[in-house]
Amino acid sequence: MLTLEQNERLTRVGPGTPGGKLLRYYWHPIAPLADLDENPVKKVRLLGEDLVLFRDRSGRLGLVDHRCPHRRVSLEYGVPEEEGLRCAYHGWMFDTAGRCLEQPAERAAGFREQVGIKAYPVEALGGLVFAYLGPQPAPLLPQLDLLVWDNVVRHIGITTLPCNWLQCVENALDPVHVEWLHGRYMDYVWERQGKPIVARNRARHVKIGFDEFSQGIVKRRVMEGQSEADENWTVGHPLVFPNILRSNGTYQWRVPVDDTHTLHLTYNGYRTGMPVQGQEQVPVYEIPLQDEYGRVMTEVLLVQDFMAWVGQGEIAERHLEHLGQSDVGIAMMRRMLEEQMARVEQGQDPSIGIYRDPEANRCIVFAEELHAYNGRDHVPESERVQFGWAFERFNPLRSEIVEFLRESERRVARGELVPPGHATLPVPVGASHRQVFMLPETAS
Ligand code: FES
Ligand SMILES: [Fe+2]
Repeated sequence: MLTLEQNERLTRVGPGTPGGKLLRYYWHPIAPLADLDENPVKKVRLLGEDLVLFRDRSGRLGLVDHRCPHRRVSLEYGVPEEEGLRCAYHGWMFDTAGRCLEQPAERAAGFREQVGIKAYPVEALGGLVFAYLGPQPAPLLPQLDLLVWDNVVRHIGITTLPCNWLQCVENALDPVHVEWLHGRYMDYVWERQGKPIVARNRARHVKIGFDEFSQGIVKRRVMEGQSEADENWTVGHPLVFPNILRSNGTYQWRVPVDDTHTLHLTYNGYRTGMPVQGQEQVPVYEIPLQDEYGRVMTEVLLVQDFMAWVGQGEIAERHLEHLGQSDVGIAMMRRMLEEQMARVEQGQDPSIGIYRDPEANRCIVFAEELHAYNGRDHVPESERVQFGWAFERFNPLRSEIVEFLRESERRVARGELVPPGHATLPVPVGASHRQVFMLPETAS
């Protein structure tokens, strides 16, 4: 249990807050790049700051305060020019560094130089636009594998959730919920919907473990019928500190929009053996929390997680909760956040997940356990897209993606293509600050 004050420290994200200062050391995705094709100027909100993202006519990306310094009109209505963004009201123009380049109706010397606008660095990668709101010099934008590898079919599912980011992240350190939320509860939803209940994998967790490493926490488990020789334990999958889950060939960003809203980006990267056509822009679709009648879509696995996070309230009441032994991963994450906030308060960089060496940032590859579906390993990607991921039903390109992956798999089977590999070493079991907990046999 935390005190109210500790919960505030962990969850507040605005400028000047301890949590907000820590989160500002990391690059966060703020929008799919494809959004700017539709409209080159977009209002965004990140870490409690209202901002305007734009692409000028030279192709430069900029991120500036949403209000013009002249008379505070929203730049969301600005006009992209050859170099910068022009305010719609009186034509002041700002470049991507926030300098005021023009004030058409002003004649006083030196005035223009005094009225810059707040501007932040932005970079595009893998079809997303990332922003950095922290102190300079900015660390490097992490070159995450699925975003930079060749031969990856990418698409982005997007959802805005009315709750704080941390409860979304804590879910990633909570292996046991899978048995219940995605097992027993899923059965109940199907029962209520009058559908035949499919025999789900009801294996119980025998053991869970967490290892802190240089980029976050590796989560491991042993299920009934498995042993510590299985990849669920030897490899597991990471929570990339502070807010990205890597699992099942996806990155799931839980981006703190403000204290009570989270932008959830489900970034799918399906690896194939052949070059991917038609992805000059990574496609985007919405994964809705609710159906057209306003009902939470509880039969969709990922939406079940959304339901749980939103169901904890805008900011989870951690001062009222009762953590048990199976919550050891959550406690570990909170402790890491505290440690990293303390470093920042002492004027240091966070020690986890910050890249300043280009060599170390060429391509960041995370190991993850074999994808399992319906109790089987080595499931073809095409099958996972077609049947394994319920949220793919919202993807208008689903059948084309399945076809593409099938063709790739056929060609790999004929020996015409090299299969995509998984060449990276897992974080060894028992890395620093190891936390392991074996669930008691009496748990039922
Ligand atoms: S308010 Fe923006 S130019 Fe006047
Ligand atoms: Fe889940």
